Amino acid sequence: MTPINIMEEKVRITVDGKELEVPKGKTVLQVALERGINIPYFCYHPKLKIIGACRMCIAYNEKTGRLFTTCNTPVEDGMVISTKHPTVVENQRYLLQALMTRHPLDCPICDKAGECDLQNYGAIYGPKRQIVPISALEKDRNGVDWESDFLEYYSNRCVVCYRCTRACSDVVGANALYVEERGFHTNIAPAEKPFDTSSCEMCGLCVYVCPVGAIISKPFKYWTRSWLLQRGKTACNLCPLGCEIQVEYGLGDWRSERRVYRTKPTDELHICAKAFFGYDVLSSNRLLYPVMYGREETVGGMINLLVNILKSKPQETAIILSNFTGNEVLDIIHALVKSTGCYISSTLTLDFLKFLEGYGNYEQISFEEFKNAGAYVLVGDDITSTVPVLSYYMRGRVYSLYGERTRDKKLNPVYISWKELFHLKEEALVVVNTTGLEDARAWGEKLRGYKVYPIHYGANFWGVYERFKGVLSDLPALMSAIVEGRVKNLILFGEDLLDYYEPLELKGIFDNLEKLILFTPFDDGLSHMAHVKIPMNLYGEANSSLTSLMGKVELRGFLPWRFREEDFYQDLLSVLPKEEKHVPMLKGEGEFKKPELHLYWSNWIIRRSKNLKRLYEKQVSLRT
Ligand code: SF4
Ligand code: SF4
Ligand code: SF4
Ligand code: FES
Repeated sequence: MTPINIMEEKVRITVDGKELEVPKGKTVLQVALERGINIPYFCYHPKLKIIGACRMCIAYNEKTGRLFTTCNTPVEDGMVISTKHPTVVENQRYLLQALMTRHPLDCPICDKAGECDLQNYGAIYGPKRQIVPISALEKDRNGVDWESDFLEYYSNRCVVCYRCTRACSDVVGANALYVEERGFHTNIAPAEKPFDTSSCEMCGLCVYVCPVGAIISKPFKYWTRSWLLQRGKTACNLCPLGCEIQVEYGLGDWRSERRVYRTKPTDELHICAKAFFGYDVLSSNRLLYPVMYGREETVGGMINLLVNILKSKPQETAIILSNFTGNEVLDIIHALVKSTGCYISSTLTLDFLKFLEGYGNYEQISFEEFKNAGAYVLVGDDITSTVPVLSYYMRGRVYSLYGERTRDKKLNPVYISWKELFHLKEEALVVVNTTGLEDARAWGEKLRGYKVYPIHYGANFWGVYERFKGVLSDLPALMSAIVEGRVKNLILFGEDLLDYYEPLELKGIFDNLEKLILFTPFDDGLSHMAHVKIPMNLYGEANSSLTSLMGKVELRGFLPWRFREEDFYQDLLSVLPKEEKHVPMLKGEGEFKKPELHLYWSNWIIRRSKNLKRLYEKQVSLRT
């Protein structure tokens, strides 16, 4: 079939004397920004509904002789616009002056300084001297205490653009903020206090979209200045969505401590509490170089040790994968397993694989299809806590076949029976959180014939599944083989095991090993049990990819203290035997702990975050 060529309809407009051909259907502000024409604005954001509230984005229509707001005016053929007309300039000045009369001039102590739209517009478009004689001390408005240890609102700095409330309601669906009072007294207020235990998900989107320093993150407050920070973009590897985020860090020079200061989303507005407040894990008790029996070891020494064990005793050696490892490292582990014939396992064998075994042939559903589903049926533990940003996209009708789940309450699910599910068969997408799902195989069998979207909390669970399905030993059977002394050497990646087994239980099992070689980002936790430990990179450190729910996403390594793992793995690959061996498999079921999937406490990486721990403890104290 010949592909249909859909031509984008164009219109011609003139902006500041320049004729432009632009797509019909867009607004004047959108096309101006795309063409690099500067128009200042506060309330517009490319991912938020347009409301035309701030009046900052004005331009002059030469044909009608009127000012208009560009963010909510669609382009029309023949329009002649001026962004620099004297009336525009005068009104921009007037508006900025009006905003400044109640704005404290506290840029030296405001966290937004250096990246604040009011500060920048003030310098470019504002009056050059104070027109209204009001002293800074008289600018007080009634403040609103959000009663939060994490977010703070400065009413005097607010330009009332409603970006925060729109992000919270329309993107996150948390409805944690509302607009209080009107006119000069307008404030942004929390729907519930104290805020840290309210419906707020601590995603930080309100902080990010606020064009001024009216909402700030308290853990970041006063630590540094925005212009002192270095920044890089990477996928987040704290859950399987792999959102693109920005990581801001200090280099450890005279201006800033060597650590990560904050994370932000991009304008896609994909971020959740795990990344927004959990950035402190990147600077927390890190293992930065290989250690063997308590002493720093060279990379070459580690490679020799690994190859010796794997070549000489493959039947006594096993690897347990981490579902938080990037694809390129997984590829090398795959080559390692194939060339030596050792055992390989993953926590996925406890739940996710069981579900798929029960379900039968499964074809992965794309993120686009997920977003466009008309109805969702929830199965398994809280999806909002497990893959928070996924919940931002469940905008159809939501049902649940499972008991009440904490954060998913914001989706207002209707509880249904199997019989009712049958009537939804054609339209519903059954979203199954397989993490720790009891009777996972039985769920899979019962859902055969339904369109399902299985998820797991591990950031790269699809990457592990794609590469290792068909060779993974059941984890309980491997644990028994260690206890019985049949497997004596364990090469363990990450601490996924701690989400499924109690530390003491693991210690009892590992005591039977001759060698425990641990790849870990942290110099605590399981690393106290390991004979040998090798660094494992986190986001902002690894140069790798994840097979995320959104497709393939890139992890980019730029943090200065990162371990050069790509060199390590390339060297390891170069000394591996080239022939392929049979990979043995162990079968057997056993007991395991159900991982806790709390928004602030859902995996072994973010449990190191002091910020998230405080939030978690606040929530738990509510329950007791
Ligand atoms: S942090 Fe997120 S959930 Fe909380 S108020 Fe801000 S936008 Fe809403
Ligand atoms: S707090 Fe910030 S984002 Fe919210 S209305 Fe005020 S200025 Fe806008
Ligand atoms: S939803 Fe997942 S990938 Fe996105 S920011 Fe949160 S933890 Fe990271
Ligand atoms: S950006 Fe147009 S009115 Fe605010």
